[in-house]
Amino acid sequence: MTPPLRIAVAGLGTVGAGTLALLARHDALLAMRCGRRLEVTAVCARDRDRDRGVSLDGIAWHDTVESLAHADGDVVVELIGGASGAALDLARAALAAGKHLVTANKALIAHHGPELARIAEGAGLNLAYEAAVAGGIPIVKGLREGLAGNRIDSIHGILNGTCNYVLTTMRETGRDFDDVLGEAQALGYAEADPSFDVDGIDSAHKLAILSSVAFGADIDFGAVYVEGIRGIAPLDLVFAEELGYRIKLLGLARAEAGGIAQRVHPCMVPKAAPIAQVEGVLNAVVADGDFVGGTVYEGPGAGAGPTASAVVADLIDIARGGRVPTFSIPAAEMRALAPVPIENRIGPYYVRLMVVDRPGVIADITACLRDHQVSMETMIQRARKPGEAVPVVMTVHDVKEAAMGAAIDQIGRLPTVLESPHMIRIEAL
Ligand code: NAP
Ligand code: HSE
Repeated sequence: MTPPLRIAVAGLGTVGAGTLALLARHDALLAMRCGRRLEVTAVCARDRDRDRGVSLDGIAWHDTVESLAHADGDVVVELIGGASGAALDLARAALAAGKHLVTANKALIAHHGPELARIAEGAGLNLAYEAAVAGGIPIVKGLREGLAGNRIDSIHGILNGTCNYVLTTMRETGRDFDDVLGEAQALGYAEADPSFDVDGIDSAHKLAILSSVAFGADIDFGAVYVEGIRGIAPLDLVFAEELGYRIKLLGLARAEAGGIAQRVHPCMVPKAAPIAQVEGVLNAVVADGDFVGGTVYEGPGAGAGPTASAVVADLIDIARGGRVPTFSIPAAEMRALAPVPIENRIGPYYVRLMVVDRPGVIADITACLRDHQVSMETMIQRARKPGEAVPVVMTVHDVKEAAMGAAIDQIGRLPTVLESPHMIRIEAL
């Protein structure tokens, strides 16, 4: 049998411990599938004394990532997290030392992927990051290999398990945001800093990576328009149901005449749309290719088991000797594509207002819409409290984002509108 693939793992948290557990449980199965064993030879984390729930017997411990990069091993697996610091130092050091690199770190890849890919490809090494996008769903492989014969026109999906878990649980149970987010953290879904999840940054990292793979372009994280889910009130979830929608945090990327439009924001999607049925920690990605048509990928987007599954899939590829361009075309050929600004979006919108219940208020609001050529579809005012604050919700027909933004600004300045208007984009999908 071929000698084992020797693996050095940095980070023994949710994903690191999960990866070691999978490698231990499926040792014989993986050896059969790869024609060689996958053997963990070295590990590194901050706290040597912490019980990880997995055996570290016979595995060399390293106190620093610098030391781990030069440990006995063919592959370094980076499971620390963060776009810079120890993760980036380790990635650069491992490749410089001639080691393949596997990572689950979307922040690292979104910010430094092209640089690392050029180094790896130049040295004949693998840079593999399946676990960085959509947890257990093999979407990188799906796009880069399964759909390699197609021109990809668009991708969209639920890319953050924490946000989907929070939105689903809030809707189903009426529990509040902080309470449900705490539960997602306890389940190991959230990032070390959960603001990356709820502010949409994690989804934006993943979308920027997927866009690069789909469109063969340089990763351009700065070009992604990002809005998170903090502004979603329980009232929005209730009104969405009444209007026939579900609220999902989506990442959407589309190749357009002027370049690539990339955006992450909460969307109202029709309840009957397949993506509306993707609940809890599940993620889903829809990719449209010119020959294949629409394809859908769904599965657990976070947590120890699903993420370990993706990390080990990358290790298996390396053990088998497979190598493909990191982002679907050779890294040296990747070029930036022009970003298409969010102001160019055309579509329907939902708007929630808190207004004084007084004659003429609605006339003032509709005058603002008229001034910007925005056409209303629905308006709901449930409560009746003369002189007091009541919520008013409306949906409007297709309109350009720039016009909608101007109308909302004007509405927000009306003295009878008591809070900044809250807007959610409606996506027909
Ligand atoms: P985690 O539970 O916080 O684990 C991080 C690990 O990194 C810990 O073991 C920590 O050591 C170690 N570490 C931190 N700083 C270090 C340093 N300077 N040197 C050496 N080790 C260091 O994080 P996680 O959830 O496993 O996530 C790891 C990576 O996977 C992140 O990039 C994350 O975005 C990505 N990811 C996570 C999930 C998920 O569901 N959790 C899914 C997909 C991708 P100690 O344990 O000693 O503190
Ligand atoms: N925090 C991330 C999520 C982990 O909730 O989706 C998976 O990338």
